[in-house]
Amino acid sequence: MDAPYRIRPAVLADAPALVAIERRCFGDPWSEASFREALGSAWNFVLVAQASRGVAGYLIGREAGGIGEVLNLAVAPEFRRRGMGEALLEAGLAAFRRSRVDEVFLEVRESNTSARALYTRYGFRPVGQRSAYYRNPKEDALVLRLELSQPA
Ligand SMILES: CC(C)(COP(=O)(O)OP(=O)(O)OC[C@H]1O[C@@H](n2cnc3c(N)ncnc32)[C@H](O)[C@@H]1OP(=O)(O)O)[C@@H](O)C(=O)NCCC(=O)NCCS
Repeated sequence: MDAPYRIRPAVLADAPALVAIERRCFGDPWSEASFREALGSAWNFVLVAQASRGVAGYLIGREAGGIGEVLNLAVAPEFRRRGMGEALLEAGLAAFRRSRVDEVFLEVRESNTSARALYTRYGFRPVGQRSAYYRNPKEDALVLRLELSQPA
């Protein structure tokens, strides 16, 4: 039986755990300074999936002028396929709805089939491409968009 987990807002003290996961998940990871900046900014929100063994994943969102962006999403390899990515995305979309955001954008590597499957399942659709957006390895990004319905 999987250990339970919960989604909670991140605090500055989570930065080292987030960086450690980030480095295991991406060839072009965010720096610790970028995480600290996101955690300290009033324009961003950071959610973590807290498992009994520690932080297992996170989502970083940003809102400006009614437009939301998912800036980062990752789940540590040993915690994948247990619904944490989905739970983080749902909590992020709920936060955007609370801020009256009506469209959300994100970038994803073209080859990232697992993340693309997750986003497609939530209704994100490709609306553009950024050439050579990623490094290590160099790759184009697909830009995905989701129109958010507001609660009645
Ligand atoms: C993408 C990521 C966050 C998904 O996290 P996760 O906790 O494993 O996702 P979930 O268990 O909630 O999966 C939800 C759905 O996403 C899709 N999915 C997730 N992993 C998948 C995979 N390896 N292959 C195909 N579909 C996958 C499936 O539709 C899955 O539903 P299912 O398990 O019922 O089939 C995780 O794989 C990850 O951290 N990857 C590395 C970092 C990354 O690429 N982040 C996205 C940057 S844009």
